[in-house]
Amino acid sequence: MKQFLNIALPKGRLGEKVYAMFEAAGYECPSIRENNRKLIFENEKVGVRYFWVKPSDVAIYVERGAADIGVAGKDILLEYSPDVYELLDLHTGICRMAVAAPVGYRDDPSKTLRVATKFSHIAQSYYASIGREIDLIHLNGSIEIAPILGLSDVIVDIVETGTTLRENHLEVRETVVPISARLIANKTGYKFKNEAIRALVRSMEKQVCEREKT
Ligand code: PRP
Repeated sequence: MKQFLNIALPKGRLGEKVYAMFEAAGYECPSIRENNRKLIFENEKVGVRYFWVKPSDVAIYVERGAADIGVAGKDILLEYSPDVYELLDLHTGICRMAVAAPVGYRDDPSKTLRVATKFSHIAQSYYASIGREIDLIHLNGSIEIAPILGLSDVIVDIVETGTTLRENHLEVRETVVPISARLIANKTGYKFKNEAIRALVRSMEKQVCEREKT
């Protein structure tokens, strides 16, 4: 009997790109492309059920087994260390976690650095690894504003095209870690639906390799 797979996808641009990969891998679910506000879509014939969830929540659904597999950014995996298997780097959603500061900012290494970020754990481990003392300011969004208003000296945030930084007169000072989307699996689900999950991973892997060649 075909094993049914529950898949959590990150809502938004990345999710749409990633769904196209699942579709090309043979796990299509045409109703997902209908323009409506539904969040759960199923294709019984292929044996898949997709859910759209907030990108930062995908790992929670997968860790707790509400989804067997899902797609999460490496930023979320590093920040929250969910207890899941990381199966595959999808080589999409590529960006980097970086330290940024106002253009021309001069750092005084003898002073505690004020760092604003949504990624507290990543920022803390990064500065611990280079032995720099920081005053961490946890924010939930619009991080770029913090140094402009003097709330922080620098920010640790995701940089993709660099447009947000440029438009706010900030610049990258250091790259903390490269980021991309990862296919993750629930640990129990991986055991019980091993055949179905491995078949899906193989199919996705093939696409990633082919894309890398072109
Ligand atoms: C992220 C990040 C930056 C922006 C970077 O924000 O926090 O603000 O993208 O992208 P860019 O380099 O292409 O300009 P996101 O859109 O995920 O929303 P958020 O501010 O709510 O985190």
